[in-house]
Amino acid sequence: MMDYIKKFSLVGKSAVVTGGAGLVGKEVVIALAQAGAHVLIADVDKAKSESLVVALLKEGLNVEYYYLDLTDIKVLENSIKSIDFHLGNIDIWVNSAYPRTKDWGAKVEDILCESWQKNIDIQLNSYSLACKYTAESMKKKGGSIINFGSTYGVVGPDFTVYENTEMTMPMAYAAIKGGIVNLGRYLASYFGKYSIRVNTICPGGVFDNQDKNFVKNYNKKTPLERMAKADEIASVVLFLASDASSYVTGATIMVDGGWTAI
Ligand SMILES: NC(=O)c1ccc[n+]([C@@H]2O[C@H](COP(=O)([O-])OP(=O)(O)OC[C@H]3O[C@@H](n4cnc5c(N)ncnc54)[C@H](O)[C@@H]3O)[C@@H](O)[C@H]2O)c1
Repeated sequence: MMDYIKKFSLVGKSAVVTGGAGLVGKEVVIALAQAGAHVLIADVDKAKSESLVVALLKEGLNVEYYYLDLTDIKVLENSIKSIDFHLGNIDIWVNSAYPRTKDWGAKVEDILCESWQKNIDIQLNSYSLACKYTAESMKKKGGSIINFGSTYGVVGPDFTVYENTEMTMPMAYAAIKGGIVNLGRYLASYFGKYSIRVNTICPGGVFDNQDKNFVKNYNKKTPLERMAKADEIASVVLFLASDASSYVTGATIMVDGGWTAI
């Protein structure tokens, strides 16, 4: 009889989570480490990452920190090679880093050309090249790559949810996340023969004490009538990272409380 629980086990696997100290990344690190993986937190925020490592080691989880600036394209290939060497093998790579420019969130009318180009570079190009170099290193044994897209990578924003708030949804996010969604399909197709799976998770808004008006508007628009919790996203990463999803590749998984279903 198939042991279904065992399919979710990551014992003996190594995982890298870019942006692993962030809101979602931290829960992803916990989920993968609880399933038995050796998890490397690859983030630019040294202080946050190191205190997370201390806390998780106390819980008995096998985690460590590696300073990685995903946007430093010139050294990215070498960084991934040295991570691969250090871990012995990268079995799982999760892109959850969220670099953005200081003016991220500017209204369409105020977007500067350089800022647009910079955001495409640091958010889309960094994910794309990280996937390329990681997949090349995974050719040896296969593996699972998981990218973070967004609901706004598959549908346009509903700007009414930002009414009576200072918030908005940046134009570049649509191009970046839409690009990441289709990048996953390309990579799944290209690297499938090496048993490398590539999938995209598209979360809806994750609750993080946002403006009360936004939360109210958001909840009204969502079939489950609430925002996501980071652990609800992390458990889907665990599924995609593990053998429980061994026949899933090139997929875009919506984890959005039904936002894109209506
Ligand atoms: N939070 C949400 O509501 C939401 C919704 C949909 C999609 N997403 C996506 O989920 C992913 C994670 O989002 P989050 O909310 O956890 O973001 P976050 O800002 O909380 O965390 C991002 C992490 O990335 C790290 N980071 C920033 N620049 C980096 C770089 N150059 N190299 C390496 N690490 C870097 C930060 O230090 C931080 O720890 C992103 O791709 C985001 O677009 C988030």
